[in-house]
Amino acid sequence: MELPFAESFKIKMVEPLKRSTREEREKWIKEAKYNLFNLRSDQVFIDLLTDSGTGAMSDRQWGAIMTGDESYAGASSYFNMKNAIKNILGFDYFMPTHQGRAAENVLFSVLVKEGDFVPGNSHFDTTKGHIEFRKAHAVDCTIDEAADTELYHPFKGNVDPVKLDNFLKDHKDKVPFVIVTITNNTAGGQPVSMANLKKVREICSKYGKILVFDSARFAENAYFIKVREEGYANKTIKEIVKEMMSYADAMTMSSKKDAIVNMGGFIAMRSYELWRECSTFNIMFEGFVTYGGMSGRDMNALAVGLDEGTEFDYLETRIKQVEYLGNRLKEFGIPFQYPAGGHAIFIDANKVLPNIPKEELRAQTLAVELYVEAGIRGVEIGTLLADRDPDTHENRYPKLELLRLAIPRRVYTNNHMDVVAVALKNVFDRRTQITKGLKIVWEAPIMRHFTVEMERA
Ligand code: F0G
Repeated sequence: MELPFAESFKIKMVEPLKRSTREEREKWIKEAKYNLFNLRSDQVFIDLLTDSGTGAMSDRQWGAIMTGDESYAGASSYFNMKNAIKNILGFDYFMPTHQGRAAENVLFSVLVKEGDFVPGNSHFDTTKGHIEFRKAHAVDCTIDEAADTELYHPFKGNVDPVKLDNFLKDHKDKVPFVIVTITNNTAGGQPVSMANLKKVREICSKYGKILVFDSARFAENAYFIKVREEGYANKTIKEIVKEMMSYADAMTMSSKKDAIVNMGGFIAMRSYELWRECSTFNIMFEGFVTYGGMSGRDMNALAVGLDEGTEFDYLETRIKQVEYLGNRLKEFGIPFQYPAGGHAIFIDANKVLPNIPKEELRAQTLAVELYVEAGIRGVEIGTLLADRDPDTHENRYPKLELLRLAIPRRVYTNNHMDVVAVALKNVFDRRTQITKGLKIVWEAPIMRHFTVEMERA
């Protein structure tokens, strides 16, 4: 008999979870203005709000914490991080930042000017926010297949090379760089193929444009290349990562994802000139160039995390857990972005709750229903996240209206995944009775989803 699959780790430290009743959750979510960001973590049983900074560090990482060097300048921890970035990602220059959006802030302070256009594949909200805050525009060139949640495509995160080339042909003077997000979070944690990265590189070179990778989940992307793309099955994850990164001029990193730390980020680049230009902003916003908002111990843990995060056994355990949840949902007929992404399952709220008017926030309504059902916290990736158009101030209704269930790294077991699947089934079974959604009563002018306040419509 073939042995079943099991996790490539064992558990050394645990944290208790609190259960609650439906009545308590009804009260808490009302007090939270139906915004799941406003809940206290002890009001949540299974927290799938994000996979960012929520992973469990390994014993090796905790060991590295103890040997962190907290010197203001030139700490050995900085050099540990520098070596890991050079060895694993291949970049000569880098600077730490406190997280991914800080890396965007520093890099975009150098590169983005008012009136610019930055093409890419479904920019993440902070990326788009940092572009639009500078009165520039994010241009989405993701392949059309990404918008069809039922369609199988091995690399749904891909950039459409024709859309990109056409855009550059017409607007090249207003484009400072192209950004490719790997994996493509907003489209469902979907990977970008090596062939596509190579093609985008060719297009950027043709127009003389810098290519930046938003690399938060680059290792998960490499796993999908290994298991899905021809010619990569026998390559190691580290070999694949090296090739992926060879096509980029620079990368921004939220280390809270694939470097498996609770806080941290960086910018890495090939050009010393670009490094020098960024360093002024880094010192102003983040800290001196050898710590950039990170403590020495965290830089040490990050260096180890980059190494562990690019090992096949770790990635296989990680991505198989996400796939396991996807398979359970498939059994129950619950529609989600298919195939399962690397870090999360994205439920198609347009298909689950079509009776709710889109103005009443279908995905957010589903998120609230799931919380009330079982204390599970997901996050809306839909109309709230899409924000209003900065020029017209009209709501933007994205093609995909999703409830994301992000799985923290090395944190939950498949028993937890079973609870999530059954809770969703229970909501799904009573979906026709859910006819009223939510109404916004207050919102911030930008990135409203974090602080928006709502009531039942
Ligand atoms: N880019 C991508 C693709 C991301 O998913 C995130 C964060 C960032 C950049 C910003 O990084 O949080 O370290 O400042 N994503 C988290 C999420 C918040 O839940 O998907 P950060």
